[in-house]
Amino acid sequence: MHRTAARERTYEELERIFAGVDAPFAFVDLDAMWSNADRMLQRAQGTPIRVASKSVRCRSLLDSIMQQHGFRGLMTFTLPESLWLHDHGFDDLLLAYPTADRGALGELGRLEGEGGPILMVDSVEHLDLIEAAAGTPARPIRVCIELDLSWWPLGGRVKIGVKRSPIRTPEQAQKLAREISRRPGVELAALMGYEAHIAGLGDRPLGKRAQEPVIRFVKRRSAAEIAQRRAAVVAAVREVAPVAIVNGGGTGSIHTTREEDVVTEITAGSGFYAPTLFDRYSSFSLTPAAMFAMPVVRRPSGGVATLLGGGYPASGAAGRDRLPAPHLPRGLRVDPLEGAGEVQTPVTGSAAASLRVGANVYLRHAKAGELCERFNTLYLVRGGAIADEVPTYRGEGRCEL
Ligand SMILES: Cc1ncc(COP(=O)(O)O)c(C=O)c1O
Repeated sequence: MHRTAARERTYEELERIFAGVDAPFAFVDLDAMWSNADRMLQRAQGTPIRVASKSVRCRSLLDSIMQQHGFRGLMTFTLPESLWLHDHGFDDLLLAYPTADRGALGELGRLEGEGGPILMVDSVEHLDLIEAAAGTPARPIRVCIELDLSWWPLGGRVKIGVKRSPIRTPEQAQKLAREISRRPGVELAALMGYEAHIAGLGDRPLGKRAQEPVIRFVKRRSAAEIAQRRAAVVAAVREVAPVAIVNGGGTGSIHTTREEDVVTEITAGSGFYAPTLFDRYSSFSLTPAAMFAMPVVRRPSGGVATLLGGGYPASGAAGRDRLPAPHLPRGLRVDPLEGAGEVQTPVTGSAAASLRVGANVYLRHAKAGELCERFNTLYLVRGGAIADEVPTYRGEGRCEL
């Protein structure tokens, strides 16, 4: 692995590396990816990192990452995906989102061996659904209680964070743990809480300088509240069952989540590819590792170069920060009136005038794994050359979400 930050490649280097490849294509710079991996491990200071598969969406890369010391297990995003990964030999799987997929639950119920995915639950309704769909399972289905970690200041009049689990207090968590322990078909194996408003929100948001101190204040205060509450919840649940896994965090909070002694593992995924939303944190930096290339196909005027396609906005609340960003050559921006288009994306800026038809523009996605839904393969670059070409989930015929 890399002890120091990988150097960013220049436009000329990329054009030389990909001289024989026609755009559009996507690639991952392995030198940058492994240096990002190393920086995440440094921030985790010995707490194992569970890898968020949704942020990688490439089985071959997930496999390589799992072979690196410090990374342990996958956090998956759908049950069919988890079963598919299990079929391919991945055996430490925590499915982060509740499932209502009855067919896949039936399949899970019939799994004989060990290492089936742990399912996420936050209510009796989830337990009922799992038991009804899984029938009498070959072995108890392991479940994880999700704890809500949003911040509720002013006596709960303000709620900051994602709207996921209704379980917030030690009492609520313990009650659900008791319900799980009463049911022979399920077994409590883990507790998870995702502090999305800390881990997934940069404190230097694009074009919103005034919000920076507010975001830092919220993150600080909320982290302190979470540390206390999570410890109390873990203690209450362990009165009922010896839960070994306490999962928390995300790429943006590795260094703060690790300070909580009760957390046994931290999740991270986006940090491998380092998409643009992760440029906006003041407390750590990463090297852009995943990019896609779009060809210049026309020149409508001197200062404009128009690319084929490129309209891959990221999920989440719509805004400028969700658009793909032209990365190389430097000095390009997406035209504000047209944005990134379904079939054509005009780019302007100082570098546009020198771009000829047939040249590439290298763009970065705002989020990590979603890029892989647009390409069947990823070129893997190491040193100054293409080392491999591997299928994405999409390239393997998978369409999860
Ligand atoms: C439950 C959960 N944990 C962790 C993460 C963090 O993933 P990443 O490191 O890719 O931001 C996410 C991202 O959405 C998540 O939903």
